[in-house]
Amino acid sequence: MEVVIPKNPADVGRLATDKVASVVRARPKAVIGLATGSSPAFIYAELARRVRDGEISFAEASGFALDEYVGIPFEHPQSYASVISREVVEPLGFEPARIWIPDGRADDIDKAATEYDEGIAAAGGIDVQILGIGANGHIGFNESTSSFSSRTRVNTLAPRTREDNARFFVDTSQVPIHCIVQGLGTILEARQLVLVAQGSAKAEAIARAVEGPVSSMVPASALQLHPHAIVIVDEAAGSQFLLADYCCTFANKPVR
Ligand code: F6R
Repeated sequence: MEVVIPKNPADVGRLATDKVASVVRARPKAVIGLATGSSPAFIYAELARRVRDGEISFAEASGFALDEYVGIPFEHPQSYASVISREVVEPLGFEPARIWIPDGRADDIDKAATEYDEGIAAAGGIDVQILGIGANGHIGFNESTSSFSSRTRVNTLAPRTREDNARFFVDTSQVPIHCIVQGLGTILEARQLVLVAQGSAKAEAIARAVEGPVSSMVPASALQLHPHAIVIVDEAAGSQFLLADYCCTFANKPVR
């Protein structure tokens, strides 16, 4: 795993954007794995700027969201279908027909989950998966004890996750209890993983994910098993690394 702590916190998003952009430039029909939440917001904003400036195009690319809440309508402003449409599809100019979101409203949600994985496979697999991390170490909504071989499925949100995401709703009671999420096994099949984290609230989770041990109690530690994973964090999020001095790149230049 490559770990990068840029000197300038603003470079977390810029370096992650460079990674995603290089994949899309090399392969205009790239398949992008799309995280939601605050962490990747800068990546989407910076990619949108590059689209506006004509540096890159997502017109031929496809996208698969990591997760969706179960039990709120698609049109709810905080459904990930709405968030991805508002923050990703429209500003980046994706073709809406090439964007997939796990179906949290399906009558047969297990079937919808199986079909989601089949859809990823039919698209040729995910070229680059954008990831954030929960303060409890989750990636996607794969909470502690998620199997490293799990596939897209219904999962229960941890109380900490519902509290953390209450800022997007009226209060914690309004945050759905269940979600449908790409499994850790699904995520690990992506050809590249790019995880970003900002702020001291993520420091413990990032340190446990990167420095181990590999454990289902820290789902993000699954990245240690991936051959092409990069973790880009600001100094606050990297503040609990024990081995930062010789394991991390303190970058002030674009990563490869
Ligand atoms: C949601 C997702 C989650 C978030 C995590 C951090 O699609 O992938 O794993 O990345 O909950 O959320 P933020 O970035 O809002 O702190």
